[in-house]
Amino acid sequence: MTLDTQHLNKNRQDLSQLDEIWLFGYGSLIYKVDFDYIRSERAHIFGYERRFWQGSHDHRGTPDKPGRVLTLVESENTRCGGVAFQVSHDVFDHLDHREKNGYLRHEISLHLDSGKAVTGLVYTADADNEAYLGEASIAELAEQIYECSGPSGPNREYVYDLAAALRAHGEIDEHVFAIERALRAMEPA
Ligand code: BEZ
Repeated sequence: MTLDTQHLNKNRQDLSQLDEIWLFGYGSLIYKVDFDYIRSERAHIFGYERRFWQGSHDHRGTPDKPGRVLTLVESENTRCGGVAFQVSHDVFDHLDHREKNGYLRHEISLHLDSGKAVTGLVYTADADNEAYLGEASIAELAEQIYECSGPSGPNREYVYDLAAALRAHGEIDEHVFAIERALRAMEPA
């Protein structure tokens, strides 16, 4: 699959048919909200967990030295908490551009903390995209993340900002927090 997924995302869903459009944020969309939204609330999905398996050539790394950013991987009996944003269809020009490095928009069952279940959209980077890096140990992930930087800043800031945002939302994610701990241990005293 091509690295730039913008054109693929444009025609994936017919958003004009939806009364409400909900977008699930589980990573940078939680702490970098640079798009308009109608309302937001905490939400969760079942059967997925956050993993730093996706390469970043455009935000937190470079083509020569890609960083590591999040995707969702399927996982039984798991719950992944994040933030649901009710948006209008015109945010997707911006978001499809922002998340063009291998991410595709998928439909997903979303459980809003207020109790409502809705169908939402979520960006995930699947294993067949060209930027996919796949599984690595916490130590390997932290080493790569510590060394990488791109146009959006140091890769480790992504982890620190994400971990802080997850804590602020009362969300515990041991994968993210373990990488954060490993990175903090590498920082000069
Ligand atoms: C998110 O925060 O939902 C997100 C993470 C990575 C890429 C696109 C979106």
